[in-house]
Amino acid sequence: MPQFRLPKDSRVQPGQHHPAPSSSLSDSASRRLSGGNIRAFHIYRYDPESPENPRLDIYELDVSQCGPMLLDALLKIKNEIDSTLAFRRSCREGVCGSCAMNVNGQNVLACTRAIEDYKGSIKIYPLPHLPVIKDLVPDMTHFYAQYASIKPWIQTQTPPPDRERLQSKKERQLLDGLYECILCACCSTSCPSYWWNGDRYLGPAVLLQAYRWIADSRDEYLAERLDELEDPFKLFRCHTIMNCTQTCPKGLNPAKAIAEIKKLLVERQ
Ligand code: SF4
Ligand code: SF4
Ligand code: FES
Repeated sequence: MPQFRLPKDSRVQPGQHHPAPSSSLSDSASRRLSGGNIRAFHIYRYDPESPENPRLDIYELDVSQCGPMLLDALLKIKNEIDSTLAFRRSCREGVCGSCAMNVNGQNVLACTRAIEDYKGSIKIYPLPHLPVIKDLVPDMTHFYAQYASIKPWIQTQTPPPDRERLQSKKERQLLDGLYECILCACCSTSCPSYWWNGDRYLGPAVLLQAYRWIADSRDEYLAERLDELEDPFKLFRCHTIMNCTQTCPKGLNPAKAIAEIKKLLVERQ
């Protein structure tokens, strides 16, 4: 009989409740004046140094007292309620990709999602199907190793020219929709094929990046790049489920990039 439940030591238990400070709850007059708005954030907590199971802590926060985005709420929780909460962030404007997490079932960048876009309580987990280092911090080691495996840099055989390697406007336009990828991994960690075969399937983020170099007119290793990808697992585990494209917070289309690679492989036969 197959078992689909998480192993016992991974099951998420109810955690601590951090109610909103009484001053902001009881002083209704000042809450009204400040436009007080208490929201509950249910946040996954996992401490690798504790023998206890992961838990879901609840933090109540007057979001009228912090910035408008989910990342602002997390920072306020960390700064004022619970400094042990761990998460990644850097740019706070959708550029670095480090604040990717799963919010109410969808992979998003916490810095580009407004709190007011969510109704009721907000449930925040790390990106799915990656090992967790602590709380909302996933282990990206394997993801980055897969990225390195596609040699994400220009490879050339011809001697370097005196100046830059030039592209026509049309050639440059072929990179639109590819170069904007910030490697946040929202797409790969929403892809069922990547969940089940992530050890060998490269996943949508890395395949979009692979296509970014395949499509670059300055690169002279097209055949070698395609040879590397012609593999039943690395590329062909994509079953066009399209979660990746629906999820991408930058509005990119990894499924299309994957389809373009498959097309090139068929065309060269
Ligand atoms: S289209 Fe391919 S890469 Fe995208 S979610 Fe589906 S299986 Fe994964
Ligand atoms: S394609 Fe989109 S979701 Fe995937 S890694 Fe790049 S930016 Fe993130
Ligand atoms: S903090 Fe850089 S993308 Fe969110």
